[in-house]
Amino acid sequence: MKISVIGCGYLGAVHAATLASMGHTVAGIDVDPARVDQLSRGAAPFHEPGLDELLQDGLATGRLAFSTTAAAAKGAQVHFLCVGTPQHKTSDAADLTYLVSAAEALLPHLAAGAVVVGKSTVPVGTVDMLRRVLRTRPDVLLGWNPEFLRQGTAVKDSLVPDRLVYGVDGGRAAAFSPQTGAPTGVTAALDTVYEPLLGAGIPRLVCNFATAELIKSAANAYLATKVSFINAVSELCDAAGADVAELSEAMGMDPRIGGRYLHAGLGFGGGCLPKDIRSFRSQAAGLGVTAVADWMRLVDDVNLGQRGRTVTLARELCGGSLAGRSITVLGASFKPDTDDIRDSPALDVADRLAAAGAHVTVTDPKAVNHPWRRYPRLRFEAKILRALEGAELVLLLTEWDEYRQLSPGVAGALVRRRVVLDARNALDAAAWQSEGWVVRGLGTSGTVPAVVGHLPGPYASLHPSLPAEALHNLR
Ligand SMILES: NC(=O)c1ccc[n+]([C@@H]2O[C@H](COP(=O)([O-])OP(=O)(O)OC[C@H]3O[C@@H](n4cnc5c(N)ncnc54)[C@H](O)[C@@H]3O)[C@@H](O)[C@H]2O)c1
Repeated sequence: MKISVIGCGYLGAVHAATLASMGHTVAGIDVDPARVDQLSRGAAPFHEPGLDELLQDGLATGRLAFSTTAAAAKGAQVHFLCVGTPQHKTSDAADLTYLVSAAEALLPHLAAGAVVVGKSTVPVGTVDMLRRVLRTRPDVLLGWNPEFLRQGTAVKDSLVPDRLVYGVDGGRAAAFSPQTGAPTGVTAALDTVYEPLLGAGIPRLVCNFATAELIKSAANAYLATKVSFINAVSELCDAAGADVAELSEAMGMDPRIGGRYLHAGLGFGGGCLPKDIRSFRSQAAGLGVTAVADWMRLVDDVNLGQRGRTVTLARELCGGSLAGRSITVLGASFKPDTDDIRDSPALDVADRLAAAGAHVTVTDPKAVNHPWRRYPRLRFEAKILRALEGAELVLLLTEWDEYRQLSPGVAGALVRRRVVLDARNALDAAAWQSEGWVVRGLGTSGTVPAVVGHLPGPYASLHPSLPAEALHNLR
């Protein structure tokens, strides 16, 4: 098939290269000339394992090409819209401006009966809105095929996805011929696109537009809920003198719960999860479903609160004031295995520490080629050992393998004080402690308080720290 992919960022570049690897002829289109130039040379414009190779293979076969002009989409049977849908500047809602301009640019180049399929993460009602943009072309078929790839494993996720979701007009009932049961319209077109994946047994779910539009946001809302749940519990662990790492490990062994996304720490960031839960909240509020809206607000608040907790703990570890302290922050990207710093919790914390007067040096194995002038208070040092020199406090804020494997002995010889705040609960605390380090984490450092709860009468007086009300209940 000839296919166009409009928007070649983290999602589109990987999608275009994956489709070419499946044997399709793919035109990748992006308005950013520097990005197109890099992609055309077979170099991913961001760090994504395996993408350079996939791009180079596609370019070498002649089946993959990149362009800045929408005219490159001419002749394609299927067009995938993969542009960004960031949070709106003045609200929690998704900004659909890029989607509208991509569809408008595509309009003059659409062949008769072409199929236009969105992959971006969008709010309910987006397909109806796009239908209005394309109203002069009633012959064009619209579909929604949300994408679930994760940065850092995007190539693998695209080549072997967990599932394919097709949102089509009329939903499942309208997707197959009543006579033969064969797929029709958008479903048939997408089946052809994804034939190798379907052949390999990847499940495909067909649903209506509203369901397809909601699935990705709901999935991200659930993952965010899991992270914020364990982070809220980590605060409880600190108050109770429990260890959240041991607690979550035990919880995760229950197959109904599962251990993934149940790791307490600094919380999530990046270009997707935060804006997706806010868009989900805004959609729920708009549709009058306040329980979901309130829920998402709490998840967001807990997540952002972890950044404040980390700064407070850092201040404590510096003796009550950050002013003038030399602090080294390990990690700038929003998570390991990517150089993406969009809404990075690590950079947010680093910047807050610097705002409180600390001298902050940030290091990261990959996120080194960014416009750091946006963070004039921070000093960047690509080499980790140099970044550690003279530190009075080390913060692990992004759990790169390089930092997990860092020798506490080597690091200890470089710093001024052996104190580390492991805000990702990723280090081998015992190994670091044995080298003389003080190790603190989120939810792993509390001291055991007096008993909290109902005690049988005779014992109540042994616990003067119990609130009077609790004592009253015991008598
Ligand atoms: N990044 C992820 O891991 C991921 C995963 C699943 C879904 N998504 C969703 O995919 C969408 C894209 O995310 P991303 O991370 O790739 O964003 P991104 O910012 O990396 O890429 C968007 C690209 O679209 C280009 N663009 C903007 N307007 C354009 C236009 N009119 N024509 C052509 N190109 C245009 C931009 O120049 C940019 O290169 C979002 O809705 C996101 O939520 C992202």
